[in-house]
Amino acid sequence: MRSDNFFRNRRDFLRASAVTLAAGALPAFPASLFASNKYSATSAAANPSKPQRIILDTDPGVDDAIAFFLALRSPELRVEAVTPVSGNVPLSLTLPNALRLLEIAGRADIPVAAGAATPLVRRLVTAKYAHGNNGLGGVDFPEPKTKPVAETATELICRIVRANPGEITIVAIGPLTNVATVLKSDSTIAPLIKSIVIMGGSLSGGNVTPAAEFNLYVDPEAARIVFDAGIPLTMVGLDVTRKVVIHDEQVRTLEATQNPVSQAAGKILRANFNRLSKTGGAAGFAMHDPLTVAHLIDPAIVTLKDYFVEVETSGEITAGETVGYTRGPIRRSPPLETGLPAPDSPEIDFKPNAKVAVEVDPDKFFRLLLARLTSAA
Ligand code: BDR
Ligand code: CA
Repeated sequence: MRSDNFFRNRRDFLRASAVTLAAGALPAFPASLFASNKYSATSAAANPSKPQRIILDTDPGVDDAIAFFLALRSPELRVEAVTPVSGNVPLSLTLPNALRLLEIAGRADIPVAAGAATPLVRRLVTAKYAHGNNGLGGVDFPEPKTKPVAETATELICRIVRANPGEITIVAIGPLTNVATVLKSDSTIAPLIKSIVIMGGSLSGGNVTPAAEFNLYVDPEAARIVFDAGIPLTMVGLDVTRKVVIHDEQVRTLEATQNPVSQAAGKILRANFNRLSKTGGAAGFAMHDPLTVAHLIDPAIVTLKDYFVEVETSGEITAGETVGYTRGPIRRSPPLETGLPAPDSPEIDFKPNAKVAVEVDPDKFFRLLLARLTSAA
């Protein structure tokens, strides 16, 4: 007898297929997936007929690569530009990686502009240990044929935002250096940005230090500028992203599907698994950046909660930590006894500055991810 789960999945699949056919937007699922019925698409909560316009700010990056593919194969999103930054590996690698990934996905038409090579004020720390020396798990894809545009990332972001006030969401899945540079270079641009969605931060401990998540750790000063900018901000942090870990079974599904995106995703993840297993690493890899993109496609994948989030920048041991308040008053640490006059009040009223992802539905996420990456076009 089939389980309730089967029927729930089957219903989801039929509902999604009906939406697909009606919208004429999503390609058919491969027969292998239909038969196993495991990766049917989840509800397309966003409206594919009016895609959300996004700029992908990124440091590819193994999970960045998967996030690219998810965004590019989702009709709910329109990627207006890609702006690489130093992070997982230096800009000299994230820039060609971004071009490669767009070429693999058949989207070399999307402009790519070089971002910051170093954090605002700190030395660059990379995560080659997690993403391989080239950032793509060590897979040697051919040199990209396309070139970045002549504008810098800052210039390109400002130009696109100014031409489309209130329309553009910046999806930042690397250190926030480029986004902070935009805000610093143009003091009147903030109200024109629709929203910023970041992968980064954590209210439940870090992954680089006990306090800080990698993207915030690399450039805490940039993160602080972004969190303090008054722009609608969503933080998809480790609280949820460490709960969506991809394993061998899902990678095999990608490898078994004959489309360039699925094949490339399978290769990158397989190579990274093999690399990490040699160093005694875990047999899974958290899909931090893809989850961040997925929440824009189907908001039901994560639950958001209002917080006032502050970024620690002066802590010698805790820089990059995100401290979240759900109510006031907000208290700063007491001033040092230097004899200098202290601020009038160490307390600030509570006013949320971010929606923080606090819960996630991993099954819904993986159904969406696998369905989109394994679809025929
Ligand atoms: C974040 O850091 C990077 O290593 C990943 O690409 C992700 O953006 C997770 O902490
Ligand atoms: Ca990243």
